[in-house]
Amino acid sequence: MIIAIDGPSGSGKSSVSRAVARALGIGFLDTGAMYRALTWWCLDRGIDLADRDAVVAAASAMPLRQGSNPAHPTVLMDDVDISEAIRTTEVTTAVTAVATNPRVRPVLQRRQRNAMAAIARETGGVVAEGRDITTVVAPDADVRVLLTASEEARLRRRSTELHGQADAGSVAATRDQIVKRDAADSTMSQFTVAADGVTTVDTSDLDFDGSVAAVLAVVRRTAAAAP
Ligand code: DC
Repeated sequence: MIIAIDGPSGSGKSSVSRAVARALGIGFLDTGAMYRALTWWCLDRGIDLADRDAVVAAASAMPLRQGSNPAHPTVLMDDVDISEAIRTTEVTTAVTAVATNPRVRPVLQRRQRNAMAAIARETGGVVAEGRDITTVVAPDADVRVLLTASEEARLRRRSTELHGQADAGSVAATRDQIVKRDAADSTMSQFTVAADGVTTVDTSDLDFDGSVAAVLAVVRRTAAAAP
């Protein structure tokens, strides 16, 4: 079973996708981690992110390996574990320049399709999450979900993640980062409105378990309707 999940930051996409994969006993692919890994690789090698040709070449050449276990997804470059290094503020700030490089996207999209096929062969299925999985990377996935949440709910969640709290000051600091990034990302892919055939799951009023249950319900409905 191939499951594609898209959504903006703070929608709960990553943690919900992992839990769905665990519940179904299949593998997981975080495609945002690929954009982050490429950013890390370029920064590490001194490749100028404004040098579009060099970044495109790096997208093909980087020795990236991702572990697909949803309980412990890993990101390795050669044999170096960069799972944590790709979450630093430095990478988070720089990743937009990579993700909005239009020639990088088809290269990573091809790597994503290959990774999804390999994981599905190995584990019987895959949950892949990102911004353009339901529309560009895997428009023919068995299940396609757009995970959304109100801006207020997304900011509250991200603020708690980043600052440990969601008071007015922390939310304001988070807003700057999140709203700017989503605006830049949405110039590349449409992840705020569901495309045809994509089911929207709004998690604004759901807790984590409720969000996972809502996505699993879509999976069950789709499986029941399959010929
Ligand atoms: O989901 P994330 O924050 O780890 O994503 C990192 C960056 O990559 C972010 O700028 C959005 C972008 N991205 C993308 O353009 N397409 C995807 N399929 C996944 C992520």
